[in-house]
This record gives sequence, C-alpha cells and structure tokens, in this order.
Amino acid sequence: MNAFYHGEINEFVDWLDTDGNIINASDGGIIYADGKYHWYGMAFRPLPFESGQNGGQMTDIGVVMYESSDLLSWKYEGVILEVSTDPQSQLYGPMRFERPKIIYNEKTKQYVLWCHYVKYPGNHGNEDGECDVGLAVCDTVNGKYKWQGYCKPIDKDGMVRDMTVYKDMDGSAYLIYDRHILNPKVDRCLHVVKLSDDYLSFTDTYKRIDSAAWREAPCVAYKDGYYYIVTSGLTGWQTNQAKAFRTKHLLGEWEDIGDPCVDDFTHTTFNTQGSNAFSIEGTDAFIIMLERHNTSNFLKSSYIWLPIEFNDDNTVSLRYKKEWKL
Ligand code: GAL
Repeated sequence: MNAFYHGEINEFVDWLDTDGNIINASDGGIIYADGKYHWYGMAFRPLPFESGQNGGQMTDIGVVMYESSDLLSWKYEGVILEVSTDPQSQLYGPMRFERPKIIYNEKTKQYVLWCHYVKYPGNHGNEDGECDVGLAVCDTVNGKYKWQGYCKPIDKDGMVRDMTVYKDMDGSAYLIYDRHILNPKVDRCLHVVKLSDDYLSFTDTYKRIDSAAWREAPCVAYKDGYYYIVTSGLTGWQTNQAKAFRTKHLLGEWEDIGDPCVDDFTHTTFNTQGSNAFSIEGTDAFIIMLERHNTSNFLKSSYIWLPIEFNDDNTVSLRYKKEWKL
C-alpha cells in the first residue's frame, strides 16, 4: 500500500495488515514510541449488531496493537490488554474496552491506557461497570497492559459514555468525556477533567463544555494557540453530522464552530464517526481517524483517515478523499 485508500462514501474498504489480515482496532488511537507509530484499538467480533449481547460491538479478544514507520503498512504486534476467561474477573468477556487511549508519562516512565469500560456481557447500560472509565498501565508501549480497575471521574452521578485522553504540550493530561447524569436529569454534555501528574487518577479540576451538550466521539487537535475538538451527535452506530469546537484554554470556554466537513452532501461526516486525532511525528500536521461502522459485520467496518485542514480564521475543515498520500 502506498496511499490511504477509502473508496466511495457508501463503500466499506478493508485495510489489511502486513500478514494480509483485516486490521481490527476500533476507535483507538496512535502513539509514537521507540521510533515507530503504534496503532491500537478494541478488537471487534465478526458479528452483526442485531445478535444482541453476542454482537460484534463487544470484544472477546481485547485491545490490540499494530506498528508502522509510514502510517500505511501495519504489522500486527498482538493483544496488549486481554479479555479474561475467568468469570470472576472484571475483564471476563465478551465485554468492551471502548475508545481506548494511551499516553506516556515522562515522570513515571509508564504507558497509561484509559478506556470506556463495559463489563460482561458488554451491555451499554447505566449500571456500575457499564458506564465507567477503566485504567491499565505498562512499562513498554507494546507489552501486556496491567488492569488497574475502573471508576467515575468527578463524582458517582456522572456516568461515562464516549471519551478520549489528551496530553498537552506541558505534560498535563485531560480526560474529555460525555458525562451522563440521570438523576437529576440534565443534558448530557462533554466535560474536560484534568488527570493527576502520574495520569492514574483525576484531580478536582474540571470544566463542563456547555456548548457541547449531546455530543460524543471527541477527537482533539491543536494548532497556533487553539485546541479543537471534532465531535459527533448521539445516534449510536448510525452516522450523523459532525460539529467542531475550539478554545484557547482546555479548561476555558469552548466555542461551537460548526460542521467542519466540506462538500459533505450526506451531512453524516462522510458516513463516519470520529475515533481520534493525532499529529504526524515532528510536524504540526494532524490526521483525524474516523470509522465507518458496519453493523452487519463489525469486522468489516472501515477506517477513514483524513488530514485536518487548519484555516486562517482559526477553524478546521475536513474534506473527503477517496485516496491520498501524506
Ligand atoms: C456510539 C458511540 C460508540 C459506542 C456506540 C454504542 O454512539 O460513539 O463509542 O458507544 O455508540 O452504541
């Protein structure tokens, strides 16, 4: 492969690893370490959504990782956070490690993985263990991550839905998540919470992003003093129109800057939902990772990667590209 190839907006294109297998790393991210890019995500199962608790949106494998030097050709590195076969374990499968994100802590020399944790049988409900963040750590980027348990940031009323983790230039890190409070019923809304210095817990410092009510799938990028998040609406596995927000301070006010997609006649983020944004090593260029979920066989979901265009008026644009090169 010498270019990103995504096909038409209504097409599902397989992205194969160097062994010829379909890359199966849902809603994860990229971390650059030891001179390589590492792409990780939750391994889906080859099943339709309609099969309910046995559906493909759960995992019985875990979080997997691939490595690459050019972002195009990916070598499978294996399972880094494993589902357990022990019914007593918090990681008994099928379950979900949704939207896993890994950051490196320079002080503790540890790789820290946060995810939206959903216990067996992987129902996405409102109970303890179905709407929390989970934590795992490792001394190497591609080793076996050790599970540390799960919790709710801020307080026990705020259930966790979609999330991401962002490591800022000064080394501080933040969880951005869709906080869902049932009682008293208030609008679901994205929140930013500052992590502790070791990234293993939460501080009391947080901000409700009032402008981002009823948004999820947050993907963060930074350029010239502005932080941007590209988000989706809340329609489960169905695609919907993206909306971006910007701020000068992660814990400050965030401004709604509208749908970043250009010429998107479908108003569905080109028939995708965001997973993550990452910068190309050594540059300030960003790629947004989007996913076209295939609910009749989750293994056949496609990964759509597009460059984020930063405009002179401090807005961002996304343009669909059937095929493109760095
Ligand atoms: C989506 C969300 C996914 C997953 C799914 C479950 O809206 O972005 O991460 O949670 O719903 O229905």
